[in-house]
Amino acid sequence: MGERRLELTPDIEAKILGLFRQSVCGVSVAGQSKIFLTRPLPSPVLELLAARCELRLHTEDNAIPTDRLAEACREVEGLVVCGARVPEAVLAQAPALRVVANVGVGYDHVDVAACTRRGILVTNTAGVLEETTADLAFSLLLAVARRIMEGDRYVREGRWKEWEWGLLWGAEVCGKTLGVYGFGRIGQAMARRGRGFSMRILYHSRHRASQAVEEELGAQHVDRETLLDESDYLTLHVPLTPQTRHLIKAEDFRRMKRTAFLINAARGPVVDEEALVAALQDGAIAGAGLDVFEAEPRVHPALLDLPNVILMPHVGSATGETRLKMAKLAAENLLAALEGRRPPNLVNSEVFRQ
Ligand code: 8YV
Repeated sequence: MGERRLELTPDIEAKILGLFRQSVCGVSVAGQSKIFLTRPLPSPVLELLAARCELRLHTEDNAIPTDRLAEACREVEGLVVCGARVPEAVLAQAPALRVVANVGVGYDHVDVAACTRRGILVTNTAGVLEETTADLAFSLLLAVARRIMEGDRYVREGRWKEWEWGLLWGAEVCGKTLGVYGFGRIGQAMARRGRGFSMRILYHSRHRASQAVEEELGAQHVDRETLLDESDYLTLHVPLTPQTRHLIKAEDFRRMKRTAFLINAARGPVVDEEALVAALQDGAIAGAGLDVFEAEPRVHPALLDLPNVILMPHVGSATGETRLKMAKLAAENLLAALEGRRPPNLVNSEVFRQ
């Protein structure tokens, strides 16, 4: 089955492309802010935006190159960004830009410091995708522990001839220790899932959770070393920042249990991928479930050959319902900013002035 792409209904497409052509011809609609979208988002969201803004968009479901984004942003006041980089070079050519509304919770691809310097609001979609992302992370955990992909291949390839006592033994989940690194909303949602599987929950985070949260989740705050030493499953839920780049590196893999698994549905560069490959090849850890990679969409070639690794193409938030919520929230953030209201998910609050 090929990849599924978002479909624009013909009426919306005609409307959008009509506006697009108008804007290319330089005909603007009086009183409406010009905005640019880096993806064709779901129709209800495009309708909402097209009713209130003069909308231009990158009509393909791929990352718009930076030079084309810069060109497209020359006159716009609002930018809805989804899976494209927004470096300072783009901002420098967008003097009218007032808001960058990111469709996603992580905003490491947006130069927020440069936006702040230029008085541009940055928003994200925290609050609507955490459970879905934790579902994917927990799926990776179960799949790598119980060797789901290997079993699937075994059956499809016609290798299953009879029931065997020793076939595809996996790792226990129930009763094992889940180590959650980063205890924001996704980390906590992951802990809740672990608790549902009768796991012992340890966590490490810059900010310790309240006693009420710790009690509700049965989670114990520990230092970094204890987390690495005691986790049977280490799951990463930190944002990518200069401080978290290569947070997990060779010496950490050497500390971890040889029977431990690493789960990463956060950001690829949080893990030193070269060191991860070495750890998997040497048996320093037992396996990994990865939704993110250091240089996406490139995947380290050695990972492709390892049977004890599950690889997914960065789809943590990819369900229809969640993606619609994300797109709607990004649109709400953008419209609030353009109308002078405080956006619900403002990242750089120091920029907002009433
Ligand atoms: C986004 C994500 O879909 O929210 C995030 O941080 O990683 C994904 O849910 C992706 O970043 C595209 O913007």
